[in-house]
Amino acid sequence: MSPAMALVCRVGGGAAPRSLRWVPAQRRTLKLDEVRVQVCVASVNPIDVKRAAGYGRKVLSLLGAGGRELVLGNDFAGVVTEVGPNVLHVSPGDRVWGLVPTGPQGAHRSEVCVPSRWVRPLPAGTLMVSAAVLPYTFTTLWRALKAVGLHQHNAASKHVLVHGAGGALGQLAIQWLSRWGARVTAVCGGASAARCLALGATQVVDRGTTRLSDLPSDCDATLNFGTWADDADVLGRLHAGALGHATTVHPLLGHIDDRGWLTGGLACLREWQAMRGRQRAIAPKARYAWTVFKPDVDAMDAIQSSLLSQPLVLEVGHHTRFDQAESAFAHVGQGHPTRAVLVAPT
Ligand SMILES: NC(=O)c1ccc[n+]([C@@H]2O[C@H](COP(=O)([O-])OP(=O)(O)OC[C@H]3O[C@@H](n4cnc5c(N)ncnc54)[C@H](OP(=O)(O)O)[C@@H]3O)[C@@H](O)[C@H]2O)c1
Repeated sequence: MSPAMALVCRVGGGAAPRSLRWVPAQRRTLKLDEVRVQVCVASVNPIDVKRAAGYGRKVLSLLGAGGRELVLGNDFAGVVTEVGPNVLHVSPGDRVWGLVPTGPQGAHRSEVCVPSRWVRPLPAGTLMVSAAVLPYTFTTLWRALKAVGLHQHNAASKHVLVHGAGGALGQLAIQWLSRWGARVTAVCGGASAARCLALGATQVVDRGTTRLSDLPSDCDATLNFGTWADDADVLGRLHAGALGHATTVHPLLGHIDDRGWLTGGLACLREWQAMRGRQRAIAPKARYAWTVFKPDVDAMDAIQSSLLSQPLVLEVGHHTRFDQAESAFAHVGQGHPTRAVLVAPT
């Protein structure tokens, strides 16, 4: 058996840059309901790049993930090498994809040990790389949709505005909502317009040439994956009887990092209340949510059913080996619309 390895990120901060080192790691004993997976592919998400620069360290310390040395990453695909005695749905030798909950020991390693509920068999014909880019981002989307009250049985014909539609969350939102029969207005940079239309957007608005505030207020739901600075203008597109608004680009982690628990927490509360107040004035019964990623079994099942029937697609624009991970972090940090993945050295 080859030695276990991990991509250890020394978190940057102030003038100190982050560093990434592929180093030997300890192999631990499996718990009763856990699966050990030899990781073949793991994705790099924007949160990894941000965490590598110190973002979220205070709030994530509640999950044991606030230290200076972390193994980042939430998504993986690989081959099962061992299962605990309570695991029934996968066996050694199976190709799988899965999610590692946020903590100090993420998916950027040669093998992961995860509770079996976060692992699914990879359907025949599905490439590992195609599945390994989905779990973290789709789960976040799933939670945002749930937060605004959109689901399979009420989404048909609803008008949903997606801001930041050219990014990974936006691309998955367009695909998923159009499958549910919703009409999606994609607000994106001009370079992303063709991609958003191809993925199923009903119409595209170029944020470089059209102001959000000039768009009609006729949306049933709004999703802000673009920037917090636009939150008021995005939710301003709701109509009076709308379902709700969710944003993933809220200042929760950033304020607490910068100002501490008390002052940062109070600043968040004030901003949340102010924004929710604006929304109440427009759409009194609409929900208002700051979405935070959290593993979700229903989201995992939804990804699996999509892989079995009509796979969700996120283009991968950069592959590199774990021991050369810097370029993948650079790709994501530069804001490319495609994802980057790390593959095991052969
Ligand atoms: N709270 C959470 O738990 C959570 C979880 C996942 C993601 N997030 C955050 O949600 C955001 C979107 O995630 P993602 O995975 O989709 O990121 P991504 O793939 O990097 O996409 C972000 C997209 O936002 C658009 N954008 C960039 N600057 C913008 C601006 N100034 N105004 C409006 N849109 C802008 C860009 O698309 P266009 O140029 O085409 O418009 C970009 O591709 C990121 O900030 C991410 O960190 C938060």
